[in-house]
Amino acid sequence: MDVKNSPERCPAGISELPEPPIGDATLPDMDDVSYFYGTAGEINAANLYRLLTLRSRVFVVARRQPWLDPDGRDIEYGTTHLWAERAGETIATLRLTDEGDGVLRMARVCTLLAYRRQGHATMLVRHALVVAGARPVITDVYARSADWFTRRGFQPRGGRTVVDGEAHTSMQHVPAARHAAPAPAAGPGDTAYRPAWAPV
Ligand SMILES: CC(C)(COP(=O)(O)OP(=O)(O)OC[C@H]1O[C@@H](n2cnc3c(N)ncnc32)[C@H](O)[C@@H]1OP(=O)(O)O)[C@@H](O)C(=O)NCCC(=O)NCCS
Repeated sequence: MDVKNSPERCPAGISELPEPPIGDATLPDMDDVSYFYGTAGEINAANLYRLLTLRSRVFVVARRQPWLDPDGRDIEYGTTHLWAERAGETIATLRLTDEGDGVLRMARVCTLLAYRRQGHATMLVRHALVVAGARPVITDVYARSADWFTRRGFQPRGGRTVVDGEAHTSMQHVPAARHAAPAPAAGPGDTAYRPAWAPV
């Protein structure tokens, strides 16, 4: 069975993400990994279950922090989830929430330990910035992870805060800093290629 295209894995409304239009030598080269995104209203229970399982493993279990990861925003209208899947497993994810006034917040950026340093989080961040389009993206990151986000175009936007005992740095990615590049003219089967994030 072609897992990534089965209805259960990719229900109507959820789009498989094509290669982002921003080239980067560090992007992963794993044919068996697929990238998806969907709004809170589009993803199904199985998708949400796998996203929350991954986040609990990374942010709660691995850190031994008795912190409730679900905060109510995963199912808000205007929330978009992006994730990577391999062999039926969700291996990386991030979340965009609508902060009002045309601003998006990126959060819950994580990759399963066994799949780190293969470019999956970078791929999802790049996709998220394309989804964001002209909207600024803000994020509060672990202070120790700030350099990782800086290398992906984010800039500090204020001081540090301490959340759950961990120092956080507020950052932003402004649209002017993004590189616009044309999408490829044709896709699989030489049919006209339309990026999943292109406005209808
Ligand atoms: C931070 C985190 C999300 C990064 O995920 P990741 O999928 O490993 O990220 P990437 O692989 O895209 O990038 C990691 C590094 O590997 C490098 N890399 C990418 N592909 C690579 C490859 N094929 N071989 C070797 N290195 C590679 C990247 O260049 C990057 O290097 P950099 O630190 O110099 O920028 C992950 O470590 C994680 O989940 N941490 C715990 C949760 C967390 O801290 N989240 C951040 C919230 S503030």
